[in-house]
Amino acid sequence: MNFKKLFTLLGMFIFLFSFVNAQDAKYIGAAKCKMCHNKAEKGEQYNKWLASPHAKAMASLKGDEAKNPKCLKCHSTAAGVDQALVMSITVAEGVSCESCHGPGSLYKVATVMKDQKLALSKGMILPEEKVCKKCHNEESPHYKGFNYKEYSAKIAHDDPTTK
Ligand code: HEC
Ligand code: HEC
Ligand code: HEC
Ligand code: HEC
Repeated sequence: MNFKKLFTLLGMFIFLFSFVNAQDAKYIGAAKCKMCHNKAEKGEQYNKWLASPHAKAMASLKGDEAKNPKCLKCHSTAAGVDQALVMSITVAEGVSCESCHGPGSLYKVATVMKDQKLALSKGMILPEEKVCKKCHNEESPHYKGFNYKEYSAKIAHDDPTTK
């Protein structure tokens, strides 16, 4: 194979790779969800999350712990995911919406969000117990056990208009 062919191949590979990458859903952060999910009559999901332990998870890490990947993987959504997928989410927001609902860059559009099937196809997750257990498990140095019913009631942020 000559160099010209090699470079053409390399070029094609890079092109394909960047294309695939652009299609990946990325993490956008809770402030973006807030724009649409903080109306009192629809259950103000953002405020409920903000008041929950998840939004304060970084405050539990003291000194160097806040830089330790072993702690960050469960205490911060942004720090725990593939860094190529970080768009506008911050480490400081702790365990954010997208740890449970999936990275939002592709489903955050109103027309997609209104169509549950479409939203699910764009990476939205309606979380079940197994999502919680990615972090609520024995690997946590402060593990207190996990009862899904009890724990999900503590962080409930239902929309009363969709029930
Ligand atoms: C442009 C407005 C908008 C943005 C931004 C937005 N959403 Fe939504 N979302 C909606 C609408 C509209 C619905 C449909 C239900 C309703 O009317 O509230 C919805 C529904 C949902 C549902 C329920 C889906 C179902 O079928 O039960 C979840 C979960 C959700 N959004 C999470 C998020 C998360 C997490 C973010 C941020 C990453 C986000 N949304 C950003 C408008 C938005
Ligand atoms: C990305 C990791 C992660 C995921 C996923 C996760 N959690 Fe958590 N959760 C945490 C961390 C970290 C804390 C501790 C926050 C703190 O106080 O520092 C916590 C704390 C909690 C608490 C408070 C516990 C207490 O001691 O009062 C509840 C309740 C809870 N989570 C429920 C859930 C439920 C229900 C799910 C799934 C729907 C879930 N969590 C998914 C990381 C996670
Ligand atoms: C596997 C995920 C995971 C890892 C790794 C992890 N944590 Fe946590 N952490 C949690 C969860 C979940 C909770 C909530 C406690 C519960 O309900 O089990 C928590 C709670 C805490 C708390 C609050 C304790 C309490 O009594 O409520 C502190 C402090 C903490 N973690 C510090 C750390 C430090 C420091 C590290 C790194 C050495 C770390 N965590 C690693 C998941 C994790
Ligand atoms: C710790 C995990 C967790 C976090 C963090 C979280 N959610 Fe949820 N969310 C859930 C669970 C569990 C449900 C219930 C899913 C179901 O009913 O199937 C839910 C339901 C929802 C719904 C649907 C409500 C309804 O009744 O139709 C919306 C909208 C939503 N979440 C938005 C958000 C937004 C916005 C954030 C961040 C500001 C957020 N969530 C953070 C776990 C989480």
